[in-house]
Amino acid sequence: MQDIGKLAFIGGGHMAAALISGLLRRGLPNHRCIVADPSPEQRRCLVEDYGIAATDDNAAAANSADIIVLAVKPQQMRAVALGLAPHLDTSRALLISVAAGIPHAALTRWIGRNIAIVRAMPNRPALNGCGATGLYAPSQVGAAHRALAESVMAAVGATVWVEQESQMDTVTALSGSGPAYFFLFMEALEAAAEQRGLPREIAHRLTVETAFGAAQMARQSPDSLSVLREQVTSKGGTTAAALKVLEAAGLHVIVAQAVAAADHRSAELAAEFGQP
Ligand SMILES: NC(=O)c1ccc[n+]([C@@H]2O[C@H](COP(=O)([O-])OP(=O)(O)OC[C@H]3O[C@@H](n4cnc5c(N)ncnc54)[C@H](OP(=O)(O)O)[C@@H]3O)[C@@H](O)[C@H]2O)c1
Repeated sequence: MQDIGKLAFIGGGHMAAALISGLLRRGLPNHRCIVADPSPEQRRCLVEDYGIAATDDNAAAANSADIIVLAVKPQQMRAVALGLAPHLDTSRALLISVAAGIPHAALTRWIGRNIAIVRAMPNRPALNGCGATGLYAPSQVGAAHRALAESVMAAVGATVWVEQESQMDTVTALSGSGPAYFFLFMEALEAAAEQRGLPREIAHRLTVETAFGAAQMARQSPDSLSVLREQVTSKGGTTAAALKVLEAAGLHVIVAQAVAAADHRSAELAAEFGQP
């Protein structure tokens, strides 16, 4: 991992803990990391688990840091950003916001000064080290800061950049909300197998392992998803019979409608959270 300097996490909840754990595993020395959180219990856990410094003073944590990760709930972000603003060294610091739905312009407005800000949209599997994160920064954020942000978020899984901020709503609708879609599909598969006589534990295990195996195949293969699907579907066979039913029921259309609904809701929330 490249040298990423000193890191401060503002908010020491689930996402901060996942990032801290991933970064330490990748070789970040624990004395380079500080977390600010109002809860003494939360701070005690982080100090015990990771041997990092902790404080209840956001400004003190941010003061000495090269990278400041804003990891509070979206509803808390405005107050946190306004409180931090006077204490940031805008000449060098990089801010990374992992908050869902907080627009770049809102962060910039709250900070009130010219500072490099990267928006990151991780997902829940990041807490297990296998997340997928979308990143966005406007063109004035330079390559060095982009590389730093990518290094931080890569500690919890895959990263991709999008060019336009509106695409972060689609990232939210795809990878942000996506785990729930897969769980729903897996629930349906498990229930169908159970209805057909398989014991629940067996149905569950086969469902989960099949999802994992399919994801691994897709990850490791250079082929498109449709080519992979064709490779595992013999003409006139069992898989073809099932796919015919799914296609006749309009699976593609339903999924497109679901993702569009999530995308629209993400844009609505961004408009709400980004109010002055
Ligand atoms: N968890 C996920 O799967 C996930 C996925 C994608 C994006 N995110 C984003 O990640 C961010 C953090 O989520 P999370 O799940 O880690 O939430 P979380 O577990 O609730 O962590 C937020 C932490 O911030 C603390 N906090 C509250 N007010 C603060 C303040 N003024 N200054 C400093 N810290 C403060 C909270 O303390 P109290 O509990 O005492 O209030 C809490 O420990 C959110 O914006 C969310 O949108 C999370």
